[in-house]
Amino acid sequence: MSSFASDNYSGAAPEILAAIAAANVGHQVSYGRDEYTERLQGVFRAHFGDTARAYPVINGTGANVIALQAATDRWGAVICAGTAHITVDEGGAPEKVAGLKLLPVPTTHGKLTVDDIAREAWGFDDEHRARPQVVSLSQSTELGTVYTAAEIRAIADVAHGHGMRVHLDGARLANAAAHLGEPLRAFTTDAGVDILSFGGTKNGMLLGEAVVVLDPELDRGLDRLRKSSMQLVSKMRFVSAQFLALLDGDLWLRNAGHANAMATRLADRMRDLPGVEISHPVQANAVFVRLPEAALAELHGRFAFYDWPTGPARWMTSFDTTPDDVDQLAGAARAAVTSIRHSNREQGLAMARRKVTRAGG
Ligand SMILES: Cc1ncc(COP(=O)(O)O)c(C=O)c1O
Repeated sequence: MSSFASDNYSGAAPEILAAIAAANVGHQVSYGRDEYTERLQGVFRAHFGDTARAYPVINGTGANVIALQAATDRWGAVICAGTAHITVDEGGAPEKVAGLKLLPVPTTHGKLTVDDIAREAWGFDDEHRARPQVVSLSQSTELGTVYTAAEIRAIADVAHGHGMRVHLDGARLANAAAHLGEPLRAFTTDAGVDILSFGGTKNGMLLGEAVVVLDPELDRGLDRLRKSSMQLVSKMRFVSAQFLALLDGDLWLRNAGHANAMATRLADRMRDLPGVEISHPVQANAVFVRLPEAALAELHGRFAFYDWPTGPARWMTSFDTTPDDVDQLAGAARAAVTSIRHSNREQGLAMARRKVTRAGG
């Protein structure tokens, strides 16, 4: 099945599977003291700067929960977009596991602004309010949009001015880099980000994400937090070997760039069609599209994709989406929309004809 439901529906890239097989020799020390995880530190430093330290984990929710705990006290709160994965899609894990209060803010295209943050940045000395300690941004966002380095810098300056930290949920950080055409550190370390969750699964890995601490001040007890958050992988070499294959070269950028290009191709094939609206700028690997209900129903019979709670359908591309996959969906969508418009027009004409006949009789 080729689908547009989620970049999680895809399999693993062949280079990743080869790296797992290559790491499957002999014994290695467990729990991250293996040679792959050691080597990985240098690779993360090459991407994020000399202060970076990576902690491989199993999944993105775990990475977020650990990163947020590292940057907060037990009385902390986290400002985030109302669409953020941490508040919509993590089953309450930041609240339940980390004991945090989330302060979600409505946004237009999934991106927080300096003004949004100012709205929630109050009550720091009020014991009745959980203290805002972190601003969490998703990069790229859940709506397929991307913050520029300047936007992140501006947010970081405001956050730091209030003594808050900046966390990036980078489940799709590679897609943001591919869109911006900038090295990873340009819109993370160099833009004032303190800690981030780095995604591998959605970009061709079998599984695996990493917490990457950029400000060494936050690198306290991360190994303990990872264990107590149930994210310490015993055979960590297999996660780290995948990251090495992804990041020690340009596989990460090729995969993400390809997924983005497929989303752009899809959006471009839909844009000029009357009755179709692209709801958010297409900057990463998601296309949010509003279509007539009947067209959506027809497409659901042939392609896997989700209708988003806010209204539009979400079509998501992946590292292995082909131009042919895209053209099939776009062709079917165009045909469905056109035939519905045609039959609506026919019905309209028939009604008009009936009215004329009745008036004449
Ligand atoms: C923005 C974002 N963050 C994090 C995640 C990671 O989620 P999971 O815990 O399923 O790996 C996802 C997955 O959909 C995501 O879209």
